[in-house]
Amino acid sequence: MQSKFITFEGGEGTGKSTQSHLLADYLRDQGITVTITREPGGTEGAELIRALLVSGTTGRWSPLSEVLLLNAARLDHWQKVILPALNAGKWVICDRFTDSTIAYQGYGHGADLTFIKTLNQQLFSSHIPDLTFVFDLDPVIGIKRSLQRHTSENRFENMQLEFHNRMRQGYLEIARENPDRCRIIDATGTVSEIQKLTIKEVAKFIIS
Ligand code: TMP
Repeated sequence: MQSKFITFEGGEGTGKSTQSHLLADYLRDQGITVTITREPGGTEGAELIRALLVSGTTGRWSPLSEVLLLNAARLDHWQKVILPALNAGKWVICDRFTDSTIAYQGYGHGADLTFIKTLNQQLFSSHIPDLTFVFDLDPVIGIKRSLQRHTSENRFENMQLEFHNRMRQGYLEIARENPDRCRIIDATGTVSEIQKLTIKEVAKFIIS
């Protein structure tokens, strides 16, 4: 079976990480070789950059610095993990990818969308995700859920609600612009309801 590239996107506390792991488990049960990974991160260097991005004060980085740090991390991850796995015929499930930068830094922070999309095009367009789940949830609920986890990774959670609302609208816009690959998931559903939806969507790849 041909490799597939599946991404999970959405705001804070939407449950996408849980679902990405459940989907990986399901696919492995079907005999599919899966690489599951995340952004920012996924390699030693990219995890170091992640720590710089997700902790500290909200104003620690300018929007453009965030774009550049995220792309440095992504390129390392792309070259060392994602591309080799896809080229080996594996399925790759990635918790966040280029849409996160469009939604968070572009729509959320107002960084230049054309610049972000140009970087995406130049660096990562050889393999566009086959399927992207966009987990949609009221940020008030999502941030509350996320902060209950009590980690030090709360720099984005601490940003203003307006930022999160703009980012959410950005994701919905991305989904509207890319109907072939994006599926919006109502993240208020239960874990098992959402799991059924994601499995239903990937089933078409397994049959074909
Ligand atoms: P996570 O909480 O899903 O692990 O992601 C870590 C944080 O990084 C999250 O608050 C969103 C943020 N982020 C961006 O702002 N832009 C990006 O491109 C990526 C990949 C993550």
